[in-house]
Amino acid sequence: MFGKLKDYCVNGSKILFTFEGAQEGVQPCVEVVSDWIVNVFVDYTGTGHRTRAIEGELGERLNSGVSGNAENVESVSQKENGVEINTRELTVVVGDGFLVDFYYRQGTPLSLAHRGRRTKYGAVSGQVLELLAKEGHEASAGTENDYRVQEVRSLGDADCIYGLGDKTGFLNKRAYEYEMWNSDIPDPHEDNFRALYKSIPFMMVLKEKGAYGIFFDNHNKTYFNLGKESRDYYVFGADQGNLDYYFVGGAGLKDVVSGYTSLTGRAPMQQLWALGYHQSRWGYESEEQIRQVAGKLRECGLPCDCIHFDIDYMDHYKVFTWNQETYQDAAKVISDLREMGIKAVTIIDPGVKVEKDYYVYEEGVEKGYFAKTPEGEIYVNQVWPGDAVYPDFGNPQVRTWWGGKHKFLTELGVSGVWNDMNEPASFRGPLPEDVAFTDEDAPSDHGQMHNIYGHNMAKATYEGWKGLTGKRPFVITRACYAGSQKYTTGWTGDNHSIWSHLRMAIPQLCNLGMSGMNFVGTDVGGFGSDCTPELFARWIQVGCFFPLFRNHCAIGCRVQEPWQFGEEVLAISRKYINLRYELLPYLYDLMRETEQTGIPMSRPLVLEYEQDENVRNRNDEFMLGDRMLVAPVVEQGARERMVYLPEGTWYDYWTGEKKEGGCFFVRKAPLDVCPIYVKAGAVIPKFPARLWVGEEKDSLLVLEAYPGEGTYTHYQDNGEDFAYRQGSYNEYKLVNHRGAVEVEKLHEGYRAYGKIEIRTRA
Ligand code: GLC
Repeated sequence: MFGKLKDYCVNGSKILFTFEGAQEGVQPCVEVVSDWIVNVFVDYTGTGHRTRAIEGELGERLNSGVSGNAENVESVSQKENGVEINTRELTVVVGDGFLVDFYYRQGTPLSLAHRGRRTKYGAVSGQVLELLAKEGHEASAGTENDYRVQEVRSLGDADCIYGLGDKTGFLNKRAYEYEMWNSDIPDPHEDNFRALYKSIPFMMVLKEKGAYGIFFDNHNKTYFNLGKESRDYYVFGADQGNLDYYFVGGAGLKDVVSGYTSLTGRAPMQQLWALGYHQSRWGYESEEQIRQVAGKLRECGLPCDCIHFDIDYMDHYKVFTWNQETYQDAAKVISDLREMGIKAVTIIDPGVKVEKDYYVYEEGVEKGYFAKTPEGEIYVNQVWPGDAVYPDFGNPQVRTWWGGKHKFLTELGVSGVWNDMNEPASFRGPLPEDVAFTDEDAPSDHGQMHNIYGHNMAKATYEGWKGLTGKRPFVITRACYAGSQKYTTGWTGDNHSIWSHLRMAIPQLCNLGMSGMNFVGTDVGGFGSDCTPELFARWIQVGCFFPLFRNHCAIGCRVQEPWQFGEEVLAISRKYINLRYELLPYLYDLMRETEQTGIPMSRPLVLEYEQDENVRNRNDEFMLGDRMLVAPVVEQGARERMVYLPEGTWYDYWTGEKKEGGCFFVRKAPLDVCPIYVKAGAVIPKFPARLWVGEEKDSLLVLEAYPGEGTYTHYQDNGEDFAYRQGSYNEYKLVNHRGAVEVEKLHEGYRAYGKIEIRTRA
């Protein structure tokens, strides 16, 4: 398509290329963003970058088309095989056809462009196609798989692929194909699904030695064929927009995650209570029911910090209203819950009910804030409230307006917002691609804005909430795009109470974490279908180790609070929810690590031990931080399981038994046991168990020290607002020397713990 490379020129951080065969006015460009990050850009649309994932100074510079300074470009020179660009860490070679190869600076290849044609596959024709279609199969008549915008890159035999957000299936995405098109799918999600609620076009390749990431920053519908079409290469592409991708190199996967989040942002600290247990159900039909659930939680001695109010709390599903018939006195119920240590999080969907005199609708119509048909009429589809219109969140004024609307909730004492149906979902067929939306300062359409609709909604919510309360906003979203982690936490949508979904939760959440979305969880117990006592017991043993720990289920399905399954399961639930509360300071430390480095709190083993071949496809174990390994039971009926521990010495959390890693073994796991292992030398900061996070959070810190040697950092602040960014926090260095812990203050800016107690685990 580009033909022979004719010439190049250097402009600050950008190297621009001229090709013999390039389309008129199209000048491919390689830009050195940092030592490890290089952008590859072909401006087919003539709009320049229009990144919505990368914000702040870098995002503004990229979108303005201004070149960065040249300090990261070490050298550019013409070589035999192309133009060689050196950063301090990478060598990039650009050759004929705009084939771009990436090497470590010392010469080891990291990622090479695929040479040669794509191998077409899966095309059938004529009668067969008709027959297939009759039975409802998907098949294609075409032999042409090429996308208008496309990149084909080589795969090595041993390469594994991770990331890509919430996609179903396994940890390693190699040999599968995916689409980025935010999709509301209530049917049970299967391994072969191509799209789901979130679009995070970021993938990482782990090689035998080394790793890199590709962030394809094109928020139109995009496609990833990750070695399904051929063992030799992977393809990513789009039918619209630009070729705009970032190559993120690093010595290993962790560096790549850090690099990617240095571009798109890191998930910020949440309030401490957000790490507590959340109880939810679609179908708490009245205030009375919510009060009963709260009472029962306390009666059963179950820690809980918040109850989610699903759509029923609203008046006819109208956002920013309260159903006074069934939910009576909003402020009173919320303050009564608060007395019990339980906060309220309310759902807010984007669809605004079409109704005369409904203030949100009327205001939006008057201001022109809803999406329109190409003819200029307000576009109407249907969601929970019936006929509904869609706020045009790409317009900054709409975001400010929407954000301000949350005053209705903050004044009632609500503590956080749950953004749902923001793919956006629509019950009367999908929104046509030509529905008119705005993209910041320019007119756009649904085709281009779809994948960032949830992102922009969450951003509006976050900014509005922050302005109204000054606290760290707690937002949870279903749909999002790369970079949404700056504004929101997330959950994996409508899973089902089936064993395969419990199994899938682990790789799905681990990949989301490695894609920047750190604070995520699945609906514990499953949303659709009916949970069984055994499944619930096993699910809570997984859910309590992921950042968002929320039990949620659907109307019409078996009720799912922990006491609904008999005494045994209630006791198991209490045990794991208590453990979660004990681990709060450890979880908080990990959240701080995420904010600073981008490394997710819950992570796959491969992120810690990438050189170990046994963990590259390990779907049924994961780690909480670098010290704790969880090997849950995810098979119906199983009362033991095979555990793999990577190299080093480990301790069984429950029995204290010492285990040498690097091998598989069988661990007994009766229904109340989720096998957990702690690394030798670890210090695990803990709180005494409590019913909610509460005021007394700083009275006692327990440091649980395991035999061995290790050094860690512990972090403490008020757990609520942004004062820590001005220095109001404490940081401690914990040095474990064979179970004796020395505590040294590294930073002092917040009140000290009443007491620090060291407990040595033998
Ligand atoms: C969607 C959400 C689910 C919620 C329901 C009703 O299905 O995914 O979590 O309970 O809508 O609001």
